[in-house]
Order: sequence, then C-alpha cells, then structure tokens
Amino acid sequence: MQKSEKRGKFITLEGMDGAGKSTHIPNIIAALKTRGVEVVSTREPGGTRLGEQLRTLLLHDTMHPETETLLMFAARREHIANVIEPALKRGAYVLSDRFTDATYAYQCGAKGVSSNKIKQLEKWVQGRLQPDLTLLFDVPVEISMTRLSTAREPDKFEREDAKFFEKLRQAYLTRAKENPKRFRVIDANQALDKVKVLVENIISTI
Ligand code: TYD
Repeated sequence: MQKSEKRGKFITLEGMDGAGKSTHIPNIIAALKTRGVEVVSTREPGGTRLGEQLRTLLLHDTMHPETETLLMFAARREHIANVIEPALKRGAYVLSDRFTDATYAYQCGAKGVSSNKIKQLEKWVQGRLQPDLTLLFDVPVEISMTRLSTAREPDKFEREDAKFFEKLRQAYLTRAKENPKRFRVIDANQALDKVKVLVENIISTI
C-alpha cells in the first residue's frame, strides 16, 4: 500500500503596515528550507494571476468596505484553490504574507464591516482551512506610521490616519487573544536581530 503523504503546514504573517513583517520573510523561508521541505511563499491579496489583478484594484481604488471585503474573499478563493490547498496536499509549508485575520482587522476592526458577514464568507470560502500558525508583528502606532512615512509611495491603506491604525492594532491584538493556540504575538519594536531570533524560535516549534 502506498504511504499517504503528510499534509503540509500553513503559516501566516500579520501586522499593521510598517510593523516590519516583510523584512522577516526571507529568514523564515531559509529557516524552513533547512528542514528539506518545500516552501511556498505567497501573499494576500494576491498569490494568483487573478488575485494580483484584484490586489491592484484593492490597494488603489476607493470602494465601499463591503465591496473590499468581497473582493478580498474572491481573491482568497482563487488563492486557496490554486495555490494553498494543492501545496498543503503535497506536503509543502505555505507561508502567506497576510490572510483572513487581515480582513477581520482592516475591514471589520478599522472599517466597521460586520464580523458576522466576514465569518459567513470565511466559512464559505475556507471551509475548515485555518492557518496552523500566525505570527503577529506588533508595534505601537507611532512607530508603524514613522516607518511608513520613510517608505516608498504609500498605497490607500498606508495613507490612513492614526485613529485607523489604532483600531487596526487593537483588532489584531483581540484576534490574537481569541485564538491563542494559533497566534504568536511578536514585539517588533526592538532591534531587528532580536526580532529575527524570536521569529526563528517560534518557527522551530512548528
Ligand atoms: P501589505 O501586505 O502591507 O503589502 P506591502 O508590504 O507590499 O505594502 O499590503 C496589503 C494591504 O492590503 C495592507 O494594507 C492590508 C490590506 N489588506 C486588507 O485590508 N484586508 C485583507 O484581507 C488583506 C489580506 C489585506
């Protein structure tokens, strides 16, 4: 009888814009690859040809927050069907720069879309799929805003004000409290080397 392949692991990275999560992606990929596993690095919104087209619209066009939510989940449906599920099935580690927690934080927490509506879409689009591990890069709002002001041309979300960012941060921290088994909150307001070690330690546990 053929040995059934072991399902891979799904890791997601979250945090406010400017929290620094993107900086750590290459290190996480390297840490996972030392185990000899396949690593699929992807992002949301995006990750597929259609998803990347939706990303351009989502990041630059003004729209109703519910339209934004629906498009996020449309891109996610495509991403799950074409990238995430096939990779997990063949035993790969999938690392996604953002996933559904971002919809709860941005569209619900910061923009006021009903969490029940998001829950319905989550159930519809994901079924039972949930990340195995979520790293939340947390920094105070002033820090994230300072980091953003020195970065490249801001997108629509990055141009929001401090009030928006504060709601966002609280929404993320609440998600982490509600899902303690899956979330690891990383204090990203410290030297890069220290954050790197923290991240590597967490990754080694999965
Ligand atoms: P981000 O991940 O910060 O990429 P970059 O580092 O290239 O700027 O950009 C994605 C933006 O999309 C970010 O501002 C958060 C937003 N977003 C949502 O509002 N809802 C979602 O469900 C997702 C996945 C992202």
